[in-house]
Amino acid sequence: MSDFAVVHCRQLLTLAGPPGPRTGPALRDLAMIPDGALRIRDGLIAAVGPRADILRAVSEDTVIVDAGNRIVLPGFIDAHTHPVFSGTRAAEFERRIEGATYEEIAASGGGIRSTVRLTAESTPAALFQASRRYSEWFHRGGTTTIEAKSGYGLSLEAELHILKTIRLLAAERRLRMIPTFLGAHEVPDEYRGRTADYADLVIHEMLPRVVEESLAEYCDIFCEPTVFPVDLARPVLRAAQALGLALRIHADQFTPDYASLLAAELGAATADHLECTTPAAFAALRAARVQPVLLPGSVYALSRTRYPDARGMIAAGLPLVLATDFNPGSSPTASMPMILSLAATQMRMTPAEAITAATVNAACSLNRDRSIGSLEPGKEADFVIHDCDDYRELPYFFARESAREVYLHGVRVYPPAD
Ligand code: NIG
Ligand code: FE
Repeated sequence: MSDFAVVHCRQLLTLAGPPGPRTGPALRDLAMIPDGALRIRDGLIAAVGPRADILRAVSEDTVIVDAGNRIVLPGFIDAHTHPVFSGTRAAEFERRIEGATYEEIAASGGGIRSTVRLTAESTPAALFQASRRYSEWFHRGGTTTIEAKSGYGLSLEAELHILKTIRLLAAERRLRMIPTFLGAHEVPDEYRGRTADYADLVIHEMLPRVVEESLAEYCDIFCEPTVFPVDLARPVLRAAQALGLALRIHADQFTPDYASLLAAELGAATADHLECTTPAAFAALRAARVQPVLLPGSVYALSRTRYPDARGMIAAGLPLVLATDFNPGSSPTASMPMILSLAATQMRMTPAEAITAATVNAACSLNRDRSIGSLEPGKEADFVIHDCDDYRELPYFFARESAREVYLHGVRVYPPAD
């Protein structure tokens, strides 16, 4: 089916608009077409418009997909995920519910390092299958693209293996995947107390191989005083930039205005988390054109109460992005609709602002705004039919996966054909 039309879209959210990330009032403009339709040719969008206009231009043998008077929008772009790991941390979750904190569990050898151990113990096939299973979870929420980080290897070979697993998954063409090298996710067991030595390993052994084998577009780091402090993070990130990688940084999850200022200093593409960021750092992010990636799922799942100050950031003119942070520790969800709900109820983002942050703005943060993020002629036909009457139902009916059909490059990937 390389040429078809999609009709009876009760609300077709095109997100069409000028290029570049959206800020301020533009975050609320979904460029919606009531009773809209799409024309798809060779995986790309050929035309978008009211049903009558699109139908007038199709030939008699054009295949018609009936959206059934449901809503249609671009696939969500989840710009921060950690999807390749083995095992779960359900036991640790129980300990946290009983009172232990995320930082205490990490300090006692649990947390990220426990997933690193489980990942090291699993076979390549098991690791691939575990990650493949999550692809369908992303589809169910209406996601078509994810940024995928390594970070549960923490040795040269293990990090390369995770990035190659991401490459294999991407080759299946069920989800678009944009790879990020996160070798500096945590200090591994064998380097405890020798963080600087581990940072050297990342700089001198891991980064050159990752780049040589074209395994990543971005480099990330978990920059906190107790994990990788700024003085060690800076040389890692500079080395990555020198090799041609762009930067995304885990910033200010626990410490106010700490790594966000480093993200601004280095001109990172994104600063992610920002739960503790104050208005003082907003101006620096804006001046350096760093996009905030907000991850309310991690606040929720860690039973914390301090959500990022989304309204303050919007007032400061920042082009917000929303993402799941899907990972087995701090945010075990692949559901963008759940993130939209948290964005609305906990951060007071309107449904339209949240949808823009999860589509167009996310595409900009991944340097993909020319090809995905909105439904406009010439762009990829990555779209989702959601079983809703109104786009505001996406965050309103929470904890419900509403995606009914998911298309990637004009091919239906969910429900799967097999
Ligand atoms: O974004 N903070 C560091 N990284 C992840 C958590 C990963 C984990 O706990 O396994 C995050 O929250
Ligand atoms: Fe993360």
